[in-house]
Amino acid sequence: MNKHLLLGMLLGMSLTQPLPAQHLIVPEAYGNLWYDNTFQRLMPERDGPDFRLRRKTADFMLSSVTPQVTGAPDGLRLLFTSIGLRDGTLTYGLIPYGQHSFPTAVLRFEVKIDTNGAAFLPISKHLRDGYDHSGWQKRNFGVIGYRLTDPTGLIVYEGKQAFARTEKGFEPRPTVQRGPFVSEVTDKQAVLWYETSAPVFTRIKTDAAEDTFFSRDRKMHHEVRLANLQAGSEYWYTVGCDSADLRFRFRTAVPRGYPKFRFAYASDSRSGYGGGERNVFGTNAQIMGRIGALAVQQGAHFVQFTGDLVNGYISEPDEMRLQMVNWMHAVEPYWHWMPFNVGMGNHESLGWWSDSLGWVMADGFPYETHSGEAVFAEMFVNPLNGPQSEDGAKYDPNPYRRGDFPSYRENVYYYTYGNTAMVVLNSDYWYAPLLNKTAAIGGNLHGYIMDEQLRWLGQVLQDFERDSLIDHVFVTVHTPLFPNGGHRSDCMWYNGDNTPRPVVAEKPVEQGIIERRDALLDLCVNRSSKVAAFLCGDEHNYNRMRIEDTMPRYPPGWDKPRLTLRRPVWQIINGAAGAPFYAQQELPWSASVQGFTVQNALCFFDIDGKKITLVVMNPDTLEMLDQVQMR
Ligand SMILES: [Fe+2]
Repeated sequence: MNKHLLLGMLLGMSLTQPLPAQHLIVPEAYGNLWYDNTFQRLMPERDGPDFRLRRKTADFMLSSVTPQVTGAPDGLRLLFTSIGLRDGTLTYGLIPYGQHSFPTAVLRFEVKIDTNGAAFLPISKHLRDGYDHSGWQKRNFGVIGYRLTDPTGLIVYEGKQAFARTEKGFEPRPTVQRGPFVSEVTDKQAVLWYETSAPVFTRIKTDAAEDTFFSRDRKMHHEVRLANLQAGSEYWYTVGCDSADLRFRFRTAVPRGYPKFRFAYASDSRSGYGGGERNVFGTNAQIMGRIGALAVQQGAHFVQFTGDLVNGYISEPDEMRLQMVNWMHAVEPYWHWMPFNVGMGNHESLGWWSDSLGWVMADGFPYETHSGEAVFAEMFVNPLNGPQSEDGAKYDPNPYRRGDFPSYRENVYYYTYGNTAMVVLNSDYWYAPLLNKTAAIGGNLHGYIMDEQLRWLGQVLQDFERDSLIDHVFVTVHTPLFPNGGHRSDCMWYNGDNTPRPVVAEKPVEQGIIERRDALLDLCVNRSSKVAAFLCGDEHNYNRMRIEDTMPRYPPGWDKPRLTLRRPVWQIINGAAGAPFYAQQELPWSASVQGFTVQNALCFFDIDGKKITLVVMNPDTLEMLDQVQMR
């Protein structure tokens, strides 16, 4: 077994400037692969199917759509390195910070991106007098928002740029490029975070303290944890960057045990068809924007969003960053006020590409920089209370050493809110998208909760079982236990075939997918009295079903133990946040399915003591789609 390969990889090697070698180690949890240093690709160790894997070249990257900006006497010049933007269009306008609750760019003027990737914004000509709705001429300072469209009409990115006007003309200024966002909200704490366009000092003033908080060093990622807050209280906050002050308000969680609030749930917002904002490179920004607005308008305290935010299935971390940033931008106006808690799906896949199979085959490594898990953790701010990784599981090839598997950091976690707990799982961890064809390499199966994650879930559910302040537990997992439309042949069913399972170090693990589904059901239904529902997605539709013991759920000829369900539990599928729809399919449990629709949908869960009511609305048409008392 040629697995202890420690090979140097020269990244971006050029003849004039040799760079230090990067050693690329194939994690031992994979099999049958070695790294070809010369051609920078993974090769099979043995004869057999062609598994040559490489990193797929990015179409666009966050860095290539982020401009270098220079000032001019009458405006700003933006230079983009992305070749795909050449001959494209830049549309821009002022962002009226301070005038509205939900400030967004008021796009008004178009300029060409030339064949060198440069665009000139004649601000003094375009945005003067009757077009100056933010008052920049008086302050000699403003912030513009811009949209980049490629020559085919694809909206690639929307960014922000601050400017000042001096005697010499216009000069670019640093600004808050993304955010501020409120995350990790509990009854005592909240995290405010944002990204600036350059490494700068910023300041935060809140109702929570007398003093203004000044950052201690220049940085681009700013994250401040506010502690000792009052439960169920509203706090105004102002983020200052250069001459801009961004003022919003957040609400801390209701006190632990408090029985009344509402939250929203959806998943699957990758790009849809029809052009425009339905595909802002990798994400359906149109429907996500509607979801954000509806969630705020309907008084949700937070939005849980579990997987397939973006298209993914790419190799380049900076391309994934761009897609995720586009998703964040779509809900940014609302995320200033209310947390969006996100989990992973199969489309957050970032890894090794096979030209012969035309798809990603294995999670990216080095895991710390190139795995889907690592980039997800980098881009979002989620609780750190999850399991560590699958290292230490009984199939771990090196049980006493870390690094054979990617991290669960920020992609598996839980939080509580009032009398309710939310457990966020990752059923696309260490994901191998075409495992049936690439078992010789190995990886995890779509829909499979691996041992260490399952063990952690069991512990967390036991803690909630003993916690007298918790009445309800929701378990959210991208892939449904019982698919109903679009994913009959995977999720946790695989057309009733229990054979599919993860392959670790060239060995299939002990339990198949249907046995693992039952293990998950057993923990949540039989060993917990508080799990009210599984909140799932992956299928791009909305439907609900009450899973009861009498519901058929095994394939013909099933010869393994049958799990008895000691109580009913709900499965809510809402993958209707903008990805292309799937219609309903026939399955053994179809008689239990209710409310099926392919309309875009946002679920609202009204918690009222021991009662839970589900209300489902179409964020596009505002029609009510479904309503049911769950508990
Ligand atoms: Fe999915």
